[in-house]
Amino acid sequence: MRNKIKVGIIGLGFMGTTHFQIHQQLGKSEIIAASDVDEKKTRGDWNSVVGNIGDMDYSKPVDMSGIKTYTDGIELIANPEIELVDICVPTYLHEKFALAALRAGKHVFCEKPIGRTLKEAIRITEEAEKSKKLFSNGLCVRYWPEYRHAFELYSSGKLGRVISAVFKRVSPSIHGNAWEDWFMKEELSGSALLDLHLHDTDLVRYFFGRPVSVTSFGVKGFRSDNGIDHIVTNYDFGNDTLIMTEGGWDPAKTTPFEMSFQIVCEKGTIRFSELGYKVMYEDGKIEEPKPALDNLPTGWHVEIDYFLSSILNGTKPDKYLSTAEMRDSMAVVEAEELSIKENRSVKIEY
Ligand SMILES: NC(=O)c1ccc[n+]([C@@H]2O[C@H](COP(=O)([O-])OP(=O)(O)OC[C@H]3O[C@@H](n4cnc5c(N)ncnc54)[C@H](O)[C@@H]3O)[C@@H](O)[C@H]2O)c1
Repeated sequence: MRNKIKVGIIGLGFMGTTHFQIHQQLGKSEIIAASDVDEKKTRGDWNSVVGNIGDMDYSKPVDMSGIKTYTDGIELIANPEIELVDICVPTYLHEKFALAALRAGKHVFCEKPIGRTLKEAIRITEEAEKSKKLFSNGLCVRYWPEYRHAFELYSSGKLGRVISAVFKRVSPSIHGNAWEDWFMKEELSGSALLDLHLHDTDLVRYFFGRPVSVTSFGVKGFRSDNGIDHIVTNYDFGNDTLIMTEGGWDPAKTTPFEMSFQIVCEKGTIRFSELGYKVMYEDGKIEEPKPALDNLPTGWHVEIDYFLSSILNGTKPDKYLSTAEMRDSMAVVEAEELSIKENRSVKIEY
């Protein structure tokens, strides 16, 4: 059997430390390098890391022995031993490190959003398509057990035609907690529109294909410095289905994180909410599936495990997500932004 894949992680904040632990749990890779501009984190002091999902306890220092550390991610990329660069820095830095790592001949896993803008997404995916190495992007909700189960059930055709669907994601903002408060700076993060809501835009693209146009409404500048902090969108597919999303990080700090959906089809309704995951059939039967994909607890585990397996098997990682779809979802989100700005429906240019 091949040796473990040698990984270098850039960015040891919420996602970088989450990926760090997942790599260790999966056992298919070995973290040989890590980079962060904050030297404390490269020494294993992760006490300042804050996120919106999961129970993190970083009160004790993490053992970083045997891991080469860098404050400059470009130097990490130059390390010839590294095979996979895992990019977990703030969004506006994704393009810089993704292009450098691809050009250095590394496999690249880049957190979502792939870039700060559609133009950046195009440049990154085009570089990835030219590369002989593999590339993926952390649109992790496609891999999340309940969403995955619903996708497979819906795509099987067993429930018939979709009548309506609503996807929702709301969370308090992590204002004041992340590195230099970068999430609250629209230019750096794209605000809730890109950082949070993109997941559901991408799910609409994944489940139902390419929408023709979008009509969005939003709240601007309540938490961030003039970014879109709450959004609702209707996606027009040129037929009579009603497809909607809602996302935002404007609730008060103590409001629990919520991700939920309801997909109504001719023969049954699938719902995922704080009350659990259920399929309710038109004939009255109710199922409560407990999906855990390959016994992996979260979509983050599934997406990283799948990417590592793709590298080990030498197969393209496009079963769940293609580079073309990464671009599509960014195009739809930018159309949503324009719809709010100009207060009109926007046709999407793919
Ligand atoms: N897939 C998901 O569910 C999910 C969840 C949260 C965040 N994210 C994405 O992950 C990325 C990181 O978000 P986060 O929540 O971990 O943010 P964070 O602020 O917690 O962490 C960012 C880290 O990057 C470091 N950093 C900043 N500039 C750097 C540089 N030039 N070189 C090296 N390190 C640098 C910071 O010190 C910090 O430790 C973002 O793009 C975000 O959108 C994805």
